[in-house]
Amino acid sequence: MFKPLSKWMQEKNSAYYKSPNTLIYDDFATYAQSEKGMLTSANARDFYSYAKKIEKKQYNILEVGVGNGAFCAGFLEEIARLDEKNNTSILSKINYVLADFSKPALERAKKFNIKLSIFCEIKTMLLDASKMPGTPEKQGAKKEKNKNTANFKDIKFDFIRCNELFSDLPANLYLQNEDGIFHALIDEKMQPSLEIAQNPDELERKLLLSLPKNMLIPINRAAADSILYFSSLLGDGGRMDIFDYGFYKKEDFGIPAQMWNFSIVRDFGGQWTVDLNFLYLATLFSSLGKSAHVEAQKEYVQKIMQKKLSLSEENGLDYSQSKDNFEEDDSFYHMRIQNSE
Ligand SMILES: C[S@@+](CC[C@H](N)C(=O)[O-])C[C@H]1O[C@@H](n2cnc3c(N)ncnc32)[C@H](O)[C@@H]1O
Repeated sequence: MFKPLSKWMQEKNSAYYKSPNTLIYDDFATYAQSEKGMLTSANARDFYSYAKKIEKKQYNILEVGVGNGAFCAGFLEEIARLDEKNNTSILSKINYVLADFSKPALERAKKFNIKLSIFCEIKTMLLDASKMPGTPEKQGAKKEKNKNTANFKDIKFDFIRCNELFSDLPANLYLQNEDGIFHALIDEKMQPSLEIAQNPDELERKLLLSLPKNMLIPINRAAADSILYFSSLLGDGGRMDIFDYGFYKKEDFGIPAQMWNFSIVRDFGGQWTVDLNFLYLATLFSSLGKSAHVEAQKEYVQKIMQKKLSLSEENGLDYSQSKDNFEEDDSFYHMRIQNSE
């Protein structure tokens, strides 16, 4: 049966992640749970220098899509090391919220961080990031109560961090060729069937027409609404960091359309993930006059760690100090949204 990709993703990913029997790291690896955790350490160091500059009684941090809790644990452990080295006490001022739509994931993440919760506040929050209302204007227009936003009434965050969440949120696939723009429905085997696209708005149409023909292009609308909503929770000077797999630069399209179309949606143990269209997200944010910067994830880590890195896959996905000048590309990006108001 042919359905929009968003419907498949909603059904499959909800069943996969919410099952108590799912052990996600048996099915895939992420940069957040690798042993050395270079990305996690870099992100912690980055936050630490920000926190040292802006002294506060409390730093509110939100992580959405928590996995086994290692992205949180590695982050807090690195802050503890930096506190000890520099005789500061940032860790004790952290109020860390772990948010996910999977109860088993939240329970595991809480347990993983149990020792650290002696040194700072760690809370959990059940929410579905694919049901966020987008901009406050959209939220106003919808009016209906959203239980996913109810917990955020009285809180502003200094830092929001998400690793490999948004590529799991429902997205749809489009393709343009000589005959126009098409919406690709897909079947259980991910085979596409094209129908005339009805709903791309002007910004999406413009973007699709600027990209190569005959390639299935995801438009991650639920991710966009989610990012727009979460970034509206940032306090003055607050930042949101998004790390994910996807495409942004011209060279990313440098493979034959057939190969691209074959790998744009991937199945990991029954869960479906799709590339995050960073071009779409950056274009959308800039059209709304918001600040969003995209760079290669490796470049971000290199900048913070101040060393040249290469990809290493000895213990899952990670970076290690580079011994040669060979430039590898892992197609992971970092998007930073900064609230400068
Ligand atoms: C690919 S895993 C990444 C986990 C962890 N951040 C890491 O990098 O190892 C995706 C995480 O996002 C959560 N997730 C997926 N869809 C979600 C949704 N709609 N709302 C909230 N959490 C979701 C999953 O339960 C899982 O914890």
